[in-house]
Amino acid sequence: MGALNVGVIGLGTISDMHLDAYRDSPSAHLVAVCDIDAVRAGSRAAEYGAVKVFTDYKELLADPEIDAVSICTRNDTHAEIVIAALEAGKHVLVEKPMTASLGEALAVAAAAQRSAAVLQVAYVRRFSPNAEVLKRFIDAGDLGQIYYAKATCLRRVGNPGGWFADKALSGGGPLIDLGVHFIDICWWLMGCPSVASVSGTVFHKIGARNNILNFSRYLSADFDPARPPADPVEDLATALIKFSNGAVMHFDTSYSMHGADETKVQIFGDKGGAQLEPALEIFTEQHDTLLDISPVLDSPTFSTVAYRNEVEQFLATARGDAAEAAPADHGLELIKIISAIYESSRTGREVVL
Ligand SMILES: NC(=O)c1ccc[n+]([C@@H]2O[C@H](COP(=O)([O-])OP(=O)(O)OC[C@H]3O[C@@H](n4cnc5c(N)ncnc54)[C@H](O)[C@@H]3O)[C@@H](O)[C@H]2O)c1
Repeated sequence: MGALNVGVIGLGTISDMHLDAYRDSPSAHLVAVCDIDAVRAGSRAAEYGAVKVFTDYKELLADPEIDAVSICTRNDTHAEIVIAALEAGKHVLVEKPMTASLGEALAVAAAAQRSAAVLQVAYVRRFSPNAEVLKRFIDAGDLGQIYYAKATCLRRVGNPGGWFADKALSGGGPLIDLGVHFIDICWWLMGCPSVASVSGTVFHKIGARNNILNFSRYLSADFDPARPPADPVEDLATALIKFSNGAVMHFDTSYSMHGADETKVQIFGDKGGAQLEPALEIFTEQHDTLLDISPVLDSPTFSTVAYRNEVEQFLATARGDAAEAAPADHGLELIKIISAIYESSRTGREVVL
């Protein structure tokens, strides 16, 4: 099969990564774009040379020339658009989180099972070279049995505002937005064990911090500091996730807190351990000697090359040339974990899955 004809639905901040990757890929023709904002759709089409411009995703999906779509809209629209795309026979790369709620995730997973088309969830951290290298070491058995993982993504001022700040539109705050990446990368490196139970707490203590001056942050396309969210998302979340194989993960994340920003991902096995972020390092022992291994890579940190790798993997899977890398059931599993953390926080109890 030759290059696929691709459309991108939702043309806000993250769509650049998809548009750049498709434009530059020999395996794709970027033919269509769609956004409910007609001005944004027109300017993105001109910028990227897309010949078809839509403001209604249903019209894009009805176009028989389009083989595959990226869905880069806000979280609460993912389920509806993914299911419609799969039913139209289009291959789908959907931005994370797969959906904003557990009910939607179950519906998407069922639609993916009914469809012959590929559904890939944009767990982009899996495609960063540092993660790909670490996975090779793990798969070769160099770390042994992984029994503990620890991930932190704390932002002092990180709420992107707009729909991200409103639980009804986003499904939650840093837990669903950042947590989905960081819980997923640990879960994937651990070999995707089944989840046994979850305990978690989310805090609403500080708010979105739109008052902070002279400090740049990622902002949603509909950011408006004068419009407070109807149902504000949490500032900070922390959780302990236990797996049926006995392994445990500890995780915390924030949009707002008083402290220094921190991003750290660590996994611990009985033969070796590793830090994936901020930069890849592997820790082990040999001949009664402690060893720190620093792989020599273009970038030992998370690299934006990951977005291109993610898109190439999606195109290869859609062509039938590669195995699925982040399928719907992995999207569903993360939404199950995140929903259980919110439930545990609400009830004050451990949630057994
Ligand atoms: N992988 C990552 O690193 C990463 C980073 C940021 C955001 N994201 C995810 O990407 C998605 C989009 O985030 P963003 O930051 O680009 O948001 P954004 O607010 O910047 O852009 C969303 C765009 O979607 C458009 N839109 C909304 N509803 C639509 C519809 N029904 N049809 C067509 N267009 C529609 C909006 O007009 C807007 O242009 C979210 O799910 C977010 O979680 C992923």
